[in-house]
Amino acid sequence: MHVSYTYKAALMGQDTTVLVIMGSTRAGRVCPTIAEWVAQLGRERTGFRHEVIDLANWPLPTDDEAAIPATRRYAQDHTRAWSQKISGAAAVVFVTPQYNWGYPAVLKNAIDHLYHEWHNMPAVIVTYGGHGGTKCSAQLQQVAGAVKMRLAATAPALVLPEAVIREGATLDPNREFNQQVMLIQDAFGELADLMA
Ligand SMILES: Cc1cc2nc3c(=O)[nH]c(=O)nc-3n(C[C@H](O)[C@H](O)[C@H](O)COP(=O)(O)O)c2cc1C
Repeated sequence: MHVSYTYKAALMGQDTTVLVIMGSTRAGRVCPTIAEWVAQLGRERTGFRHEVIDLANWPLPTDDEAAIPATRRYAQDHTRAWSQKISGAAAVVFVTPQYNWGYPAVLKNAIDHLYHEWHNMPAVIVTYGGHGGTKCSAQLQQVAGAVKMRLAATAPALVLPEAVIREGATLDPNREFNQQVMLIQDAFGELADLMA
């Protein structure tokens, strides 16, 4: 199945790198484990290259750009580099925890540093939390609409075990999220259709 996606993309000369953007930069986070697992499902489902993006490696201060992003008059090298990174992506997948019913500030900040770069970007939102992070998913869907991304209809919400949240127990996504695998595969199928 996935061969047809890559074949079609190759025919169209598309850059098919999917960026899997992690919403958490917190010390002791589980985000890398979940993001890598989601990225692997994406590779298997679509055949496209998936690169996990750690926002900790993309420091974007909140106060050093005088012009609003919609003008694209970026003064800082780090903003220009972030702009280039997102512009080069064929699609994005957000993998983010819910914090106090919203999504982490670092992710909002990374989105808000750009504007046109997000337009028409095919995107999937994957959330996680004690109840799956559906409230932060709704918020992120709204913001994605503001910057004119094209969202997959399926937004998987992964329920974290209490022991992972409270005691820092090791997370095994294959075991804990087994029931959600098909949903995530569906989301990647929709993403590939949006990229076609
Ligand atoms: C500041 C903060 C707020 C949180 N708020 C929520 C919440 O609203 N709903 C929820 O289900 N879990 C909440 N949690 C628990 C997180 O889902 C859990 O800690 C998860 O591991 C966070 O992802 P991360 O480890 O990748 O940062 C919160 C955690 C933090 C640190």
